[in-house]
Amino acid sequence: MKAVVFDAYGTLLDFHAAMARHADRLGPEWQRISADWRTKQTEYSWVRSLAGPAHHRDFWRLTEDSLRFVAARHGIADQALLADVLASYRVLDAYPDATSVLRTLRDRGLGTAILSNGEPGMLSAAVESAGLADLLDAVLSVESVGVFKPDPRVYRLAEARFGLPAAEMGFVSSNPWDAFGAAAHGFRVFWVNRTGQPAEYELAGKLMELKDLSGLMEALT
Ligand code: LAC
Repeated sequence: MKAVVFDAYGTLLDFHAAMARHADRLGPEWQRISADWRTKQTEYSWVRSLAGPAHHRDFWRLTEDSLRFVAARHGIADQALLADVLASYRVLDAYPDATSVLRTLRDRGLGTAILSNGEPGMLSAAVESAGLADLLDAVLSVESVGVFKPDPRVYRLAEARFGLPAAEMGFVSSNPWDAFGAAAHGFRVFWVNRTGQPAEYELAGKLMELKDLSGLMEALT
């Protein structure tokens, strides 16, 4: 393995941090609202990819659209609060082990990258604020192909960037559907399953399951 490619949102970056920061104003349901937001955001990415290129919108737009939807569903009318939550999505926290794992990979001479649905502006803001910018060789956005994961054109971006076949790269994601796309493309896949979800997409035995990012270093030794 010569390089390791990471999903961004939910894998290196904790997207619940956006609502966690405003939990007092959102009320006790904030975790459910945050989970609904993510579900809608992801649904929009798949639907727009399936509908074809004319219907593509970047991931920032989908993040805004899905927040507006969940706000309406949960009866949140405070526009200033919604603006603050959205702004927080650009400056998410990294998961605790993200920095040390990336640093260790680089010390071992492996390439490191993000391959994400995120549009380039939101990715660079988040990577910068999470302190990951200096630890990544590349931050690759689906915007260069105009379609979302798990379209194979997205995974090819990582092969092109490193000039390596997928089989010589690791792919780390907490999203089973992204792990599925990466495995189908031939990467060595590590599924970060922090909440103990059951295996799906016939992935059992085809990837290595980790409890958190730090498990990656054990898996690689
Ligand atoms: C990403 C989303 C899918 O970063 O988590 O690509």
